[in-house]
Amino acid sequence: MQPNQRKFDVVVVGAGGSGLRCALQLARAGLDVAVLSKVFPTRSHTVAAQGGISASLGNMSEDNWYWHMFDTVKGSDYLGDQDAIEFMCREAPSAVYELEHMGMPFDRNPDGTIYQRPFGGHTANLGEKPVQRACAAADRTGHALLHTLYQQNVAARTRFFVEWMALDLIRGADGDVLGVVAMDMETGEVSVLQAKATVLATGGAGRIFAASTNAYINTGDGLGMAARAGIPLQDMEFWQFHPTGVAGAGVLITEGVRGEGGILLNSEGERFMERYAPTYKDLAPRDFVSRAMDQEIKEGRGVGPHKDHVLLKLDHLGAETIHKRLPSIAEIARKFANVDCTKEPIPVVPTIHYQMGGVPTNIHSQVLTVGADGAEQVVHGLYAIGECSCVSVHGANRLGTNSLLDLVVFGRSAGRHIADNEIVRAPHRQLPADCADASLARLARLESSSSGEAIQDVAQAIRTTMQKHCGVFRTSDLMHEGVEQIAEIEKRVHSIHLKDKSKVFNTARVEALEVENLIETAKATMVSADARQESRGAHSHRDHPDRDDANWLKHTLWFRDGSRLAYRAVQMKPLSVDTFPPKARTF
Ligand code: FUM
Repeated sequence: MQPNQRKFDVVVVGAGGSGLRCALQLARAGLDVAVLSKVFPTRSHTVAAQGGISASLGNMSEDNWYWHMFDTVKGSDYLGDQDAIEFMCREAPSAVYELEHMGMPFDRNPDGTIYQRPFGGHTANLGEKPVQRACAAADRTGHALLHTLYQQNVAARTRFFVEWMALDLIRGADGDVLGVVAMDMETGEVSVLQAKATVLATGGAGRIFAASTNAYINTGDGLGMAARAGIPLQDMEFWQFHPTGVAGAGVLITEGVRGEGGILLNSEGERFMERYAPTYKDLAPRDFVSRAMDQEIKEGRGVGPHKDHVLLKLDHLGAETIHKRLPSIAEIARKFANVDCTKEPIPVVPTIHYQMGGVPTNIHSQVLTVGADGAEQVVHGLYAIGECSCVSVHGANRLGTNSLLDLVVFGRSAGRHIADNEIVRAPHRQLPADCADASLARLARLESSSSGEAIQDVAQAIRTTMQKHCGVFRTSDLMHEGVEQIAEIEKRVHSIHLKDKSKVFNTARVEALEVENLIETAKATMVSADARQESRGAHSHRDHPDRDDANWLKHTLWFRDGSRLAYRAVQMKPLSVDTFPPKARTF
């Protein structure tokens, strides 16, 4: 049976902060925009962002976008593209004021301005001293942002397809993207959603790791779709470990805790960050703090019966401050660690949190690929925004609270670029007759496969392999083995079977389809990491402990076809200011 076919001006895949901000721009421009989401929009993973959104409002002390840009370039370990970073930091104040005017309930200073807290790597005057730049809605900033944007989209009449999973991109004979094939998760019905522009806003893929702050929905669906459509994935070796996930549970404890004055302690009660980052201490960037914690644990100064975590002490802030500024942290500590954090420290451990890499884009969020002649090309009709994209503003390591900023700045600018693009005024193009065949074949294989393994066993094998072979510290041996093991697991992915098909729920089909996206992401990560022979940002290579700008100041591109790699230059030239040249990163 042929799938249903529907037509829209724009299809946005994903209803987190970037997807909603983009859709809002498009709907307000009078375009017919469909947003697909595996979950109800306000349950998208943006809801879990806690500590804040960065913008140099200067509400607490002097600040400006140029200092924000410097911190972001340095935080990225100089792998971030400086044109995109300048654009993001300059746009930040207007993007935050716009949210405020939409009704986002930020915390307030006594003079009515937005409250801003300190965060790791946020400094004044080009690294001179810490600055308070993270605009906060208590410790529920992502929740407040997502609800605000959803309400605005409802008012703007954005069309939502809730509990729909996008399966594959549709590319025309000339390579242009013409929409997506998607599945209604309730009925299992497959549809072709034709669009003049398609936006990937599917979020991160942190569920390729066993211990992750990410929601279960973060399975790299946009990355899998792009890879299967022949589009490369960029800088996938760079995964951020957040220093403070609840030990054993993975749930995020915001860096805002340390911003408010919380400190990390080892088993000897020592504030060990003073040794590793004498100036910024507990508020050094995340890659620094995570490595320091891992080192403490490896050297036997971990806490607990297995000496496998450290402690985050915040009782000295006082119950009043904790309940006012960090109410969700008090709840998370109680529920996930059985700790009253107004009296006792929280057990924490570095936990996978964020992917710096993703689908490569230019500053307009148009997706990039490499043509047969080796030259960079725009994939017409396709955009990528938010965590699934790599523009690249985060380079090798993201600064805390730059993620919410990235979502709204690039969501808004992608929406503007699409609305101004003549393709959305032109008629719909003819779709290839076989445009749904690959997706239907994937589903048919799941139904017909009669041998193989349960979905969860294969997904778990991916997660434990990635955790072991691509962790905080990496070695050549670990990564070579990881590449081989992931290749073996890939064979198992293709023989997954749905048990007793007469009783299969669509949720099982969805999980099986998700595993196909997890494996693409895992492969891209392992192969890219194994190749990069230096240490930079979140990629910490024991056998190559130094950054090597002469050979490795370049972006990695992974292509699914042959699992091959290519490299592209980092954009070192900002839009209007001088380049920040690479320097040693000390804190
Ligand atoms: O620690 C946090 O609140 C996380 C913020 C972020 O990842 O930007």
